Amino acid sequence: MADNNAKLNVRGAAHDFDVLDGSIGPSVVNISSLYKDTDMFTYDPGFTSTASCESKITYIDGDEGTLLYRGYPIEQLADHGDFLESCYLLLYGELPTKVQKDDFVSRVTYHTMIHEQMNRFFSGFRRDAHPMAIMVGTVGALSAFYHDSTDIADPHQRMVASLRMIAKMPTIAAMAYKYHVGQPFVYPRNDLGYAANFLHMCFAVPCEEYKVNPVLARAMDRIFILHADHEQNASTSTVRLAGSSGANPFACIAAGIACLWGPAHGGANEAALNMLSEIGSVDNIPEYVERAKDKDDPFRLMGFGHRVYKNYDPRARIMQKTTHEVLGELGIKDDPLLDVAIELEKIALNDEYFIEKKLYPNIDFYSGITLRALGFPTTMFTVLFALARTVGWIAQWKEMVEDPSQRIGRPRQLYTGATKRDYTPIDQRR
Ligand code: CMC
Repeated sequence: MADNNAKLNVRGAAHDFDVLDGSIGPSVVNISSLYKDTDMFTYDPGFTSTASCESKITYIDGDEGTLLYRGYPIEQLADHGDFLESCYLLLYGELPTKVQKDDFVSRVTYHTMIHEQMNRFFSGFRRDAHPMAIMVGTVGALSAFYHDSTDIADPHQRMVASLRMIAKMPTIAAMAYKYHVGQPFVYPRNDLGYAANFLHMCFAVPCEEYKVNPVLARAMDRIFILHADHEQNASTSTVRLAGSSGANPFACIAAGIACLWGPAHGGANEAALNMLSEIGSVDNIPEYVERAKDKDDPFRLMGFGHRVYKNYDPRARIMQKTTHEVLGELGIKDDPLLDVAIELEKIALNDEYFIEKKLYPNIDFYSGITLRALGFPTTMFTVLFALARTVGWIAQWKEMVEDPSQRIGRPRQLYTGATKRDYTPIDQRR
């Protein structure tokens, strides 16, 4: 039997803490009484050793390279399921029966349109605005349009808000894209599946017929599944922290989108593709690998490394397969960027620096090549990530709101600033 007691000696005094076990994964030391007991805080910048919450949604074993949604391996969900089924699973905890699935798909499908007045929001943005800037603004603005689903204390309103966001995110993302490229908005089509409808809204134009290629729609759907949730990453933690104050769900998701935008997080797929373009040819790879290893050079290999995965990111494997399927379907035989990516991966995986630091390709390494082949500009890559991650953010937000022990998130600090001093009048300051 495991010993569920942890002892901490602080400046000569011993303190006891409980060890809590999860269903799988590392146990945690419950230090919630530490401040009361010792008058001290813990210090963990970047939260590398801190579990911020209890969750039943997603599990990652970074050493093994395992990712489970509600216990189901990502490989099985990507091979046999579809995105809306994964959405149902993440939200409700179980795979749906046929009746439940049909009902869920119908409820999402009939929420895809957005309030017509929201269209005017888009024209307020400069034509060259980054689509992520448009996303942050317009998703936050949903709370100004759907007042009947902002009462977080009402379970019905919570679910309506959740479905609205899953349903409307593709419409908003496609509108951000259309605005960005200067084409008219295309309304959703409820006879198409989730991913197919999204491709239709992005790539159809009023002057000609657009037929969605089912192989590409399937690839898009799989990309959405792979990005649907990833436990307590930076954007999800942002959504939880924003939501812990009781903010409405649309505002919380807008906060998550803002966090995702950064190049160390969701912006990495855009950065990875830009990097592959900059490297340009297989001959230039050694120079870039040397730069990535140089401590005095801030350059990093984008699409490599992960806070949690210290093994091959399981999503990267599926993504690599999807990349080949998409390129095959589109008849792209030689993509110089794919050549660079494959060779770079080979070189890095055999390099002592990357082996020793356990730096493996992550999902963003291959997703950029696929998204570009599907026809998206790099500026849209993080938008697609946000679209897919919305369900994860919502499931995590709901779990937090429904947790009776939930309190406002409020980290502490190690203060190293000036100690108390008196105000100096301006004419006496130097
Ligand atoms: N290229 C070169 N060196 C790297 C890289 C990289 N991509 N990533 C980490 N390192 C080195 C880093 O310099 C450090 O070396 P040292 O110990 O000598 O100081 C060591 O590896 C550990 O890195 P870290 O920055 O302390 O690790 P972290 O867990 O804080 O960062 C990361 C994780 C993903 C931000 C980082 O690996 C990175 O910046 N990767 C490139 C950006 C990227 O691909 N991000 C996508 C993440 S997956 C999508 C998502 O979940 O959002």
